[in-house]
Amino acid sequence: MKTAAHTIKVKSSAGTYHVKCAPGLLRQAQKEISRLGDFSSIHLLTSPRVWKSVGPLLGKSFTKRKEVNVLLFEDTETRKELRSVEEITRKLVRAGADRQSLIVAIGGGVVGDVAGYVAASYLRGVALVQVPTTLVAQVDSAVGGKTGVNLPEGKNLVGAFYPASLVLVDPLALNSLPEREFRGGLAEVIKYGVIADAKLFAFLEKNFDAILERKPAALGHIIRRSLEIKARVVSEDEIPQISARRSDRVGNDVRFVARPRAHRHAGRRCFTHRRAHSPHGSVAGLAGSRASGADALDVLGQESARGENSLRAFEKNRPGRLLRHCL
Ligand SMILES: NC(=O)c1ccc[n+]([C@@H]2O[C@H](COP(=O)([O-])OP(=O)(O)OC[C@H]3O[C@@H](n4cnc5c(N)ncnc54)[C@H](O)[C@@H]3O)[C@@H](O)[C@H]2O)c1
Repeated sequence: MKTAAHTIKVKSSAGTYHVKCAPGLLRQAQKEISRLGDFSSIHLLTSPRVWKSVGPLLGKSFTKRKEVNVLLFEDTETRKELRSVEEITRKLVRAGADRQSLIVAIGGGVVGDVAGYVAASYLRGVALVQVPTTLVAQVDSAVGGKTGVNLPEGKNLVGAFYPASLVLVDPLALNSLPEREFRGGLAEVIKYGVIADAKLFAFLEKNFDAILERKPAALGHIIRRSLEIKARVVSEDEIPQISARRSDRVGNDVRFVARPRAHRHAGRRCFTHRRAHSPHGSVAGLAGSRASGADALDVLGQESARGENSLRAFEKNRPGRLLRHCL
């Protein structure tokens, strides 16, 4: 059955590209990719684990084609390193990849970041399609063009801005995602609700059980809405350069919503904020502040490492009433 995809445009320094989202979209991957043009070869970069779960969704008629090469690498955070880039690029050379080849990153943020950096640097840049398979990657990392790897000295220290030509988001790919990873992604979605969209926040609150059960309609809605927000933020500011001072302010404002312990007193603090700094110091101020968006996403990215904690707090407290009070 053909699925009509929800399409979102993203503006980048390299031109405009599309993010398409629909359940079952991966079945149409070959058709979507062929719309980009002719490629001499297509290299699917993914991990053994992701390939086992998500590979079948792509359909054999695509993956068994002679110009399609599947290249597996371990997608643990420790393998997000230059050594993996070297290993993959050497395999690409041996597989005959040239300037007209396409790299398709199929996986979570680790695969997307590594494969994106490979695409940016192999022969000084070959075409890239992102197929995100975690919730974090679907609502965040696959859009915006940030790619890179870690060094022993720190995370994401080597990289490039290299937007994909196309991003294909299929919520059905999340069916096999472990609960822990799924919940980490939900914390990202809540973050969008807090920062940019009170309606999304209210939807999350109302449909949280359906979302936790990964019901397609509810899941599709929050993914599409998050993608729209992310697309808007990166289209306005591909390389966020907002002052550290504003970043601190946004971070402080949001942390009390996201963190469990601060949460117990969130209601009181929110009203204090409203009286003292309204509207800019409150969650409402955040929700309305587009300028703060890109920066706040970065600040809260640090929170997502503690995603499960944030989520537990959300589940327990359902802070929608709090947000409505603030608004
Ligand atoms: N480029 C960006 O803008 C950006 C933004 C946020 C995070 N990141 C990066 O993303 C990485 C984290 O990515 P993540 O949270 O997506 O997790 P991940 O890529 O580490 O994947 C987590 C686990 O889930 C497995 N997995 C992925 N998809 C699956 C599926 N559909 N079914 C079963 N298992 C599946 C993976 O094999 C892995 O074991 C970090 O390295 C972070 O720095 C990048």
